[in-house]
Amino acid sequence: MRTAAQYEILPAYPLADVPQIKRALVARGVDVIDLGAGDADLAPPPAAVAALRETALDPLMGRYPFQLGLPAYREAVSAWMLRRFGVSVDPFREVLPLIGSKEGIAHIAFAYVGPGDVTILPDPGYQPYIGGTLLAGGRPHTVPLRAEHDFLIRLDELPPDVRSRARVLYLNYPNNPTAAVAPRAYLEAAVEFCRAHDALLVYDNAYSEIAFDGYRPPSILEIPGARDVAVEFHSFSKTYNMTGWRIGWAAGNAEAIAALGRLKAFLDTGQFLPIQAAAAAALASYDEWVPRNVAVFRDRRDSFGAALTALGLDVRIPQATMYFWVPVPGGEASESFARRALLQQGLVMMPGNALGRGGEGYFRMALTQRPDRLLEAAARLGRIL
Ligand SMILES: Cc1ncc(COP(=O)(O)O)c(C=O)c1O
Repeated sequence: MRTAAQYEILPAYPLADVPQIKRALVARGVDVIDLGAGDADLAPPPAAVAALRETALDPLMGRYPFQLGLPAYREAVSAWMLRRFGVSVDPFREVLPLIGSKEGIAHIAFAYVGPGDVTILPDPGYQPYIGGTLLAGGRPHTVPLRAEHDFLIRLDELPPDVRSRARVLYLNYPNNPTAAVAPRAYLEAAVEFCRAHDALLVYDNAYSEIAFDGYRPPSILEIPGARDVAVEFHSFSKTYNMTGWRIGWAAGNAEAIAALGRLKAFLDTGQFLPIQAAAAAALASYDEWVPRNVAVFRDRRDSFGAALTALGLDVRIPQATMYFWVPVPGGEASESFARRALLQQGLVMMPGNALGRGGEGYFRMALTQRPDRLLEAAARLGRIL
């Protein structure tokens, strides 16, 4: 059977064999430290677990959620956005429950991108941006993120034909994998860009709550005019250590929310209602629970950052996210460096080129383990260097 052209051009994933290599190493008794995925070893809020337990016993909660989902979840999202960002979103017209933010980020291209349309996306970048674009038949215009530009996409330097044909601009700050943050003036320019070119701004804010040293990442919806052009994606995966629960939401422009909801009605039937109830409980526990969780990541960042710096690596201490984005020393290719780390020291990292060609020359390590394991990882890194 022949696969379709838009499937065939999906990029290959470098180091796709890592899970098998890892399993083989573990079977041989190697103590593997995995700092590859952004998937922390930490527990979710007890309030979320309790709500899941309780609501799972109710047979009515086992019925189809459909796109409406749990009204109380939509209302909890709306209330949280108001408290956290001062942004008012209508829970039924401007919010949509998602089965993790990834599916919404990937699917929205099907509503806005057609053959010949261009999307603008960061390189390196989260893979659903390019995946959604290619599967919708669009042409991704990838923009390398450079340290000398603070890892921001320079909108004023985009070629004229890209600007005029752009249907979607994907932005993600705080950024995976570079850990960069965007100044407010940049977000204002992005909103203006999308307004001028009639493009949708897909703002991926998965890391809005993992930030340190008093920095509070904004919502794009705080920017004047954003509601006309932007839809923002939020996730419980990082803020609440709920990666496997698969729950998130989209909020913003009512037409884009309606389009995504209509589209999803053809693709899925919504997330299990008890998971939505658990997510609402997680939001309600924000004030007492999230700052402590962020402090755990901050302590990890501090100890790992000091250890990496002591190795002589060119390290930027992240102000947000759970990632260190570090240049590979000595000009070695990312993939070769990551493979050596795995085979010689049992250390799993993300080679920069796994997230796009623009990531070549870097590696990413995630703060997903206890400080003593992070220090051990740094020691192993030292041996590879
Ligand atoms: C940039 C970015 N967006 C979104 C997500 C969260 O995805 P989800 O909510 O589907 O777990 C991640 C997780 O790795 C991410 O790195």
